[in-house]
Formats: sequence, structure tokens, C-alpha cells
Amino acid sequence: MPKSYCLLLLAFFTVLFLHEAMARNPIDSEWHDAHATFYGDMSGGETMQGACGYGNLFQQGYGLETTALSMALFNDGYRCGACFEIKCVNDPQWCIKDVNSIIVTATNFCPPNYDKPDGNWCNPPQKHFDLSMKMFTTIAVYRAGIVPVQYRRVPCVKSGGVRFELKGNPYFLMVLVYNVANAGDVLRVSIKGSNTDWTPMIHNWGQVWHTGVNLVGQNLSFWVTTTDRKALLFTSVTPSNWQFGQTYESPANF
Ligand SMILES: *[C@@H]1O[C@H](CO)[C@@H](O)[C@H](O)[C@H]1NC(C)=O
Repeated sequence: MPKSYCLLLLAFFTVLFLHEAMARNPIDSEWHDAHATFYGDMSGGETMQGACGYGNLFQQGYGLETTALSMALFNDGYRCGACFEIKCVNDPQWCIKDVNSIIVTATNFCPPNYDKPDGNWCNPPQKHFDLSMKMFTTIAVYRAGIVPVQYRRVPCVKSGGVRFELKGNPYFLMVLVYNVANAGDVLRVSIKGSNTDWTPMIHNWGQVWHTGVNLVGQNLSFWVTTTDRKALLFTSVTPSNWQFGQTYESPANF
């Protein structure tokens, strides 16, 4: 075999291998029907500080690849952090051709409006994605406004470890858990100070969890369980002089 041909074959299989390694095995085996709209403008300003408790989505690693979920998908905030693969379907006029799909993280809530039941896509039981404008216009023409889509859950790919943002006061510690890989959505959190036992945290809103136990001056550990029932222990994520308003990153992720 000529050498150049061998090299070509090698290149071909390398590309094939990399492609396979990068493809994500979906969490859902099937696609489900839904609709999608968008909110905000191309800058994504309106997508920040949403109902999941996340703040600046650029600093937190979510960027513009985000969506708000209708009530039927939001699951009272527990779904925050989950990743969805979404494709525009059955609308040749408005779906952009040759775009396979987008992958977005749930970072906000699309609230229902019961006063105006017609045309309110976020009212239950409708499954609806209110995408960032950037993501919507990746799969559909801007003027469409709304398109039919299909979606499935996929593992979240995040860089770095799970991060814990501490807020509140000594008698009401609130922890935002974010940058969660794989399932992405957190089901349970327990916290331990270096001088205390484990305490389950209470789901506050979005992905914010709280406890009334005063843990000031102790280094903090967390047990985090994601919705796929995988649990990870994050030992001494903070130093004992941790501060409210600070974020602490663990070296581990799901
Ligand atoms: C956390 O506190 C425990 C108990 O005082 C101590 O053994 C451990 O070394 C501390 N870890 C860190 C990272 O500060």
C-alpha cells in the first residue's frame, strides 16, 4: 500500500474515533414533542439571574446555550441544570435546513399565564422551551416566533468541578450548586461542617439549597445527589474561613 494512502486511512479512522468519542449517549432513548420560542436579544442579557438561582451565565460557564422551561418541564426548579438536545422539526418553512440540533442547559422558568390561556405556551401541560435568541436562531428563522421541536435529555458536559456559591447569613446559609456535569440537575444536597454531623439541606428555589445550622468558621463538605441517583462526596470544599458571597469549586464533577 502506498504510504500516502496509509496516512489517509489513519486520518480517516482518527476522525471517526474522535467523532464517536465526542458524541454523547442520550439519557432519554426517545425524542419527545414540544415547541420552542425565544426570549431576550442576541446579547442574552435577559436570560441572566433567572428562576434557577444562577447569576451571570457567562461567568458560570453556561453562556448563551440556555433555555427556560415551561411548568410541565421545570419540576419546581429541580430540573434546573439539566441539558436538552433540541431539534426543529416538521416545519420546512421555518426550520433551518442542515442544522441537526442544539444542546442547552435549563437555567430559567417560563411562567404560565392563566389570564390568557390562548397562545400561552408555558401553561401546563404543554412542554415548552423558551430559548435564548442565539439558540433559537440556530435552529429556526427568527421571524417564525415559534416552532415545533423534538427534545431529549443528554448528559451535560461542563469544564472544571462542581461549584458552590454561598449566600445568606449565619442563621440562613443558602448554597447555589452549579456547573454540574452529566445529569446536571440536583435532587438532594447534604452539608457538613468540620465540627458537625451531616444535615440535609432544604430545597429553597431553583438550584439553591438552605440550612439554618450555623456553620461559620468550619470547613464545609457536601454530599450531592443528581436525579440519576448518582451521589458524590465533596470533602472540605471550603476553608474554615469561608465567606458569604464567595464561590468554592471542588476538584470533582459527576
Ligand atoms: C477541615 O476540618 C477538619 C476537622 O477540623 C480537618 O481535619 C481538615 O484537615 C480540614 N480540611 C481543610 C481542607 O481545611
